[in-house]
Amino acid sequence: STTYEHIIVSNPKAGVGLVTVNRPKALNALFSPLIVELNGALKDLDSSKTIGAIVITGNDRAFAAGADIKEMKDLTFSAAYGDDFIENWSDLTVRIKKPIIAAVRGYALGGGCELAMMADILYCSKSATFGQPEIKLGTIPGAGGSQRLTRAIGKSRAMELILTGDTFDGQKAAEWGLASKAFETPQECLDGAIETAEKIASYSKIAVKAAKEVVNKSQDQGIKEGVDFERRVFHSLFGSKDQKIGMAAFAAKEKPKWSDE
Ligand code: CAA
Repeated sequence: STTYEHIIVSNPKAGVGLVTVNRPKALNALFSPLIVELNGALKDLDSSKTIGAIVITGNDRAFAAGADIKEMKDLTFSAAYGDDFIENWSDLTVRIKKPIIAAVRGYALGGGCELAMMADILYCSKSATFGQPEIKLGTIPGAGGSQRLTRAIGKSRAMELILTGDTFDGQKAAEWGLASKAFETPQECLDGAIETAEKIASYSKIAVKAAKEVVNKSQDQGIKEGVDFERRVFHSLFGSKDQKIGMAAFAAKEKPKWSDE
């Protein structure tokens, strides 16, 4: 079997594939090598004859604190646009046919929140911290956040969160319908996700595949266009000074001084 550097793949219950993002020192910041591994692991689990459902999680402190700011801070517009930066994050939503449950404990910020929202079912602990703080870095969400958050919790709330960069907890995520359940503790969240995955895996794989496909049909009309558009605008912000200022300030642990350019 494949060995990975930044994720752990395990089989906690019959029919359940568990993918644990494992870059704890960087709060599971999602850099490119990690996304490549994640895509590879999900594809393997998707084609496995025995796996019926997949759980993605991080650790108690962080599901994922975002795309990797240090990887992005010097990226140019032409490199972002030319290489279609983070387009491969969408593999999760377009290529994987088996149900994916995100078990969010700790931080799910920026790209971490977006990754969680790409899952078919979102579970969280009450103390989890969600948000799209990109505005504080002089940029915007780039992996579907503006589209999926808005669909999940409504325009006014999503607009407020994306424009302020404010965070919200797991309890609110469940109240607003972003998460289907908020658990008392991080451990209960992970156990609950595995239990639900085990139940799904006990059913006909054909029926499960069809069920996921038809539910997604209700969501997908137009979202691809929205996410593609968002990514182009996200790319164009790598041509701004303020993206460089915002991300350099983060890396240097300083407060950004915006140029408005
Ligand atoms: N990218 C790169 N490194 C990150 C990171 C990220 N998104 N988030 C955390 N880290 C690193 C920190 O730089 C730090 O590294 P060092 O030990 O080398 O200094 C380490 O992880 C631990 O983080 P902190 O010391 O900052 O931990 P904290 O407890 O003080 O704060 C936090 C936690 C509030 C989550 C803070 O780390 C933070 O604000 N992180 C950034 C969150 C963010 O802005 N995410 C959005 C990224 S942009 C994006 O995702 C674009 C997109 O839409 C695709």
